[in-house]
Amino acid sequence: MSEQREAVGVIGVGWVGLVTAVCFAELGHRVIARDIIPEKIESLSRGETTIHEPGLEELLRKNAERITFTTEMSILLDGARLLFVCVDTPPTYSGDADLSRVRSVVDDLPAGGGHALVMKSTVPAGTGNSIRRDLPDLAYVSCPEFLKEGTAVADFMHPDRVVVGADAGDEEAATAVAALYEPLGGEILRTDVASAEMIKLASNAFLATKISFINEIANVCEEVGADVSEVAAGMGLDQRIGSSFLRAGIGYGGSCFPKDVTALKMLAGNTGYHFQLLTAVIEVNELQKRRVVGKLEKHLGSLLGKRVALLGLAFKPDTDDMREASSLVLAARLQGEGAEVVAYDPVAAERAGELLGSVEMAGSALEALADADAAVLVTEWREFAELDWSDVAARMARPLIVDGRNFLDPGSLIDAGFTYEGIGRSIQAEPLKSAS
Ligand code: UGA
Repeated sequence: MSEQREAVGVIGVGWVGLVTAVCFAELGHRVIARDIIPEKIESLSRGETTIHEPGLEELLRKNAERITFTTEMSILLDGARLLFVCVDTPPTYSGDADLSRVRSVVDDLPAGGGHALVMKSTVPAGTGNSIRRDLPDLAYVSCPEFLKEGTAVADFMHPDRVVVGADAGDEEAATAVAALYEPLGGEILRTDVASAEMIKLASNAFLATKISFINEIANVCEEVGADVSEVAAGMGLDQRIGSSFLRAGIGYGGSCFPKDVTALKMLAGNTGYHFQLLTAVIEVNELQKRRVVGKLEKHLGSLLGKRVALLGLAFKPDTDDMREASSLVLAARLQGEGAEVVAYDPVAAERAGELLGSVEMAGSALEALADADAAVLVTEWREFAELDWSDVAARMARPLIVDGRNFLDPGSLIDAGFTYEGIGRSIQAEPLKSAS
């Protein structure tokens, strides 16, 4: 690699790009990170992260001297040969991945610059080959991202595997990418580009399938008097199944699973193959978000005029990300039934407020729960487990809770006077004596 271009280049400083930039700096590399949004670059240059990700801001400040944030493509191209592309690929209306940001990055690259494009953005299989055809002088490596929001720094530093896909002629660039990840100790799998692209889509689709599967098992558990947590624990002990991603709840959300499952279904469809299983995975996920309404109606009758408190709004804890969060569908659904919805989230309230204009935002869990006819635990933030639920029961108009993540201890809640409903939990839900 050229002496002058020893820095790692990062294009797009969103979730993936920022974690990648900061973690490579932590590993001792010089990093040049480029984004088109000046305000973001200014804030990152001051050491302030633009997203909520545990541990990231500390690491950014610690390694500030190794990272150059810039809006200038020329600074990036002069200083780095390996360019990690981390721009987002949101869904289009039809569900295909929108590759316009990837395309505009590719259009900005000079012909014959000797750079290697390292694709971390999630793209449909075949994208790499088409970019490579358009820019034959460019080396192309697919290095899909497997970070989870909320644990992204730890995931980067301790990967299960790193996939490095390259086709004939690009082996040297692939070896340079693999070398960057070698100190982390995870298995490095070398493949061709199309297979690397498929590994990413197939992994997310499989995890989403596991979730929809366990959610359907939960729904059956409710009918037959079984407890889905015990069923999942028993299934997970089989090493062929594994225990992760078997937590039943009110559906998966976030910027990845909904988008990538649909994108894979569309990708298959565009080739003429109907991916039947994924159609069901998506449908089950949509229905699961709506089941909470039925659970509330079972106890409250009509929801018209009832005050319902949503605990947590982010698509999962330890993030302020609201993209495709189950809370959005749930809030709209409850309001559609005439309920008065009040919500609290310790971190995502600001982002959520922009999306949930007609929902009353409370400043604390207790404020949201005061005088509510029911509570719905939407996101499993730790602080909800630490609430004094006897005190909460006394403050609510009616101590009813739907635990959408099976996060709380039903026994304690029932002892505190609550009527408890989980997801797929066969629990004697009524308290011995009502607290109201
Ligand atoms: C997901 C993948 O887990 C990452 O490997 C991948 O890199 C990332 O997408 C991506 O493609 O960028 P993420 O969206 O951050 O990561 O979140 P997850 O922890 O996977 O959770 C996704 C959703 O599934 C959340 O709404 C969560 O509440 C739900 N979930 C997860 C369940 O309902 N049950 C489970 O057992 C696990």
